[in-house]
Amino acid sequence: MRELTVALPGRDAGYRIRLAPGLRHHLGAELAALGLPRRLFVVSDHTVARLYGPQVLAALAAGGFEAHLLAVPPGERSKSWGRVTALTRELLARGADRTTALVALGGGVVGDLTGFLASLFMRGVPLIQVPTTLLAMVDAAIGGKTAINLPEAKNLLGTFHQPRLVAIDPEFLATLSARERRNGLAEILKAGFIRDAGLLSFLTRVRSSLFSDPETLSQVIFRAAAIKADIVSADEREADLRRLLNFGHTLGHALEAASRYRLPHGEAVAHGMMAALELSRRLTGLPETARDEGRRLIWDFGLTRRLPRLAREEVLAALFRDKKRQAGELWFVLLREIGVAVVHPVPRDLLEEVLPG
Ligand SMILES: NC(=O)c1ccc[n+]([C@@H]2O[C@H](COP(=O)([O-])OP(=O)(O)OC[C@H]3O[C@@H](n4cnc5c(N)ncnc54)[C@H](O)[C@@H]3O)[C@@H](O)[C@H]2O)c1
Repeated sequence: MRELTVALPGRDAGYRIRLAPGLRHHLGAELAALGLPRRLFVVSDHTVARLYGPQVLAALAAGGFEAHLLAVPPGERSKSWGRVTALTRELLARGADRTTALVALGGGVVGDLTGFLASLFMRGVPLIQVPTTLLAMVDAAIGGKTAINLPEAKNLLGTFHQPRLVAIDPEFLATLSARERRNGLAEILKAGFIRDAGLLSFLTRVRSSLFSDPETLSQVIFRAAAIKADIVSADEREADLRRLLNFGHTLGHALEAASRYRLPHGEAVAHGMMAALELSRRLTGLPETARDEGRRLIWDFGLTRRLPRLAREEVLAALFRDKKRQAGELWFVLLREIGVAVVHPVPRDLLEEVLPG
């Protein structure tokens, strides 16, 4: 078992992130140790519920819990007010009250939706995150941010609601698609670029066996999760340090938007990181060799092989709409060296030079 604690500034207790292959079979014991109420509602999506719902319910029953499963359709569209209302009604119909706890079993969509619901239901009930995608394990399940989407924009309505536990079982990833793996890998590389050069050297060495060797996979997930945990414990609410998590994302979001979301998130972020590495060489002193090694790693993981033809004007328009824009200037997370990130202004003409495509 690997374990770390996420400290919450100004509060006595933090929460733990626990990681072990097969942990899903021991969720009952894990949750019993937290002293949670006996009635639990597990929220998942149809895909994950079909694959893992029975195992998780059995594990919870073995820990003495009365657990019910609620499932929503997979995909971003489930992060909606409509789903929040429908789930609330379903919870009430099944007898949930303020002594209930919610377990999010799924990727970032389920995590964000369930977290949002847990923060509002009966003015807040305990939440347990059981991430099943690589992206959720190293990123979305950690930090307490929750959100739903509105037609106007993604993640427009959100709350902070810290989980009581993040239980990571890398065995969930056996059934994850290559596309979803790439989404998570992009976030893992990002974590290395901003905070942990050693993680990137390790990834270079283990690339070909990453998903076939459970110990290697556990180690990589744990190191990346620890970086996210470290950043959010120092900075629970959005502020300077947390902004470093946007490495590759400012341009990545613009590419996603300009592609009408046909470009997967991980690949968009990977292209964003490629550009950020070049900007770092020009603006913040990143050595050329470090830029090249970084770009090769992103390429070797197969994250930037395809880029649909995008209109440059649309990418630029999306960039300057990005909510991270400050006073008409674009600020990017750039690197002084691998593992050392800073927030730095980028002139528009330079940006146009490094746009991919
Ligand atoms: N709260 C945060 O801090 C934070 C951070 C990053 C991203 N997010 C949010 O996370 C969401 C993206 O999350 P995601 O990438 O995990 O996507 P997702 O939750 O949509 O999951 C991707 C797909 O994988 C399937 N899936 C999940 N686990 C599986 C498994 N073990 N085996 C087979 N299939 C599985 C799902 O059914 C879904 O179709 C976005 O909405 C984003 O806004 C939140």
